[in-house]
Amino acid sequence: MATSAAGPVAIIGSGLIGQSWAMLFASGGFKVKLYDIEQQKITNSLENIRKEIKLLEQSGSLKGALSAHQQLSLISGCRDIQEAVEGAMHIQECVPEDLKLKKEIFARLDGLVGDDVVLSSSTSCLLPSRLFTGLAHVQQCIVAHPVNPPYYVPLVELVPHPETAPATVDRTHALMQKIGQAPIRVQKEIEGFALNRLQYAIISEAWRLVQEGVVSPGDLDLVMSHGLGLRYAFLGPLETMHLNAEGMRSYCDRYGEGMKHVLRTFGPVPEFSGATVERVHQAMCAKVPADPEHLAARRQWRDECLRRLIKLKHQVPPQ
Ligand code: NAI
Repeated sequence: MATSAAGPVAIIGSGLIGQSWAMLFASGGFKVKLYDIEQQKITNSLENIRKEIKLLEQSGSLKGALSAHQQLSLISGCRDIQEAVEGAMHIQECVPEDLKLKKEIFARLDGLVGDDVVLSSSTSCLLPSRLFTGLAHVQQCIVAHPVNPPYYVPLVELVPHPETAPATVDRTHALMQKIGQAPIRVQKEIEGFALNRLQYAIISEAWRLVQEGVVSPGDLDLVMSHGLGLRYAFLGPLETMHLNAEGMRSYCDRYGEGMKHVLRTFGPVPEFSGATVERVHQAMCAKVPADPEHLAARRQWRDECLRRLIKLKHQVPPQ
């Protein structure tokens, strides 16, 4: 079957996240150019992508309508940034989380591109106003923050700069949907965006409960994996409230005072240092030793679980 490729898309930085974006865009039929500072990194990344896409095809988990061969033919490496971004309709920056480096990259891109491309950063926590302020093409700039591993976890947080044009957000939202991701709009920038604010709220209360000897580290994790997490794979916290009473108003009437009573007992921000780190580390290592082999095996298991969960989510009829 002949493929008429859409795109092209340029990926700046071919590490873990750059490779995932390349695979996702190719799964949506987009031509992808992968740029990095060293040829060896590009070569290694293309090889990883090749192996990964073949494995996904063998296990029946390859995304999109194209074959592995067709998707691979859409991805190429590029050692020249100007060549990589030439004609691109979307540029996804994936260099390490370093403000100075990312600002240099965006300043360089600002001088290379025209008015019809979206400049998007994968940053996990740098605010758009710190990354993009002062760029000539600031209206075309946005953060599109994926969740690791992006091939299995579809959420992408879209975070605009105060000067980002609404059309940039709409266009990126549509593009993310086209490649099978699940974009959300964070309507104004805030530290941690939405995902990490929720994640850190959970981590900090988990830490306090363990530090104060209320539950063991192992049992704490079970609260999520055998409790809240099962529901949260399908419903958010707000809909959970809605369903746990006769609607949201009823939930707040019934449980509002009780929630506030508990919330007032939450402690200060933990230090994440000292004896508690040691205790939690030992407990985690009893289950998964912190050497590269055991960690890699456990990550593989995690990805397999996510793969099956996503399959299940697709089988459950949407409502
Ligand atoms: P990584 O370290 O795996 O990859 C970074 C790549 O950028 C490397 O291949 C490196 O050679 C390349 N690079 C360095 N300087 C460059 C330059 N001047 N021009 C072009 N390429 C350059 O990092 P990773 O994990 O892929 O993270 C990339 C971004 O994605 C970061 O901003 C990170 O915060 C964000 N992110 C990471 C997640 C994760 O779990 N790893 C999850 C969500 C977002």
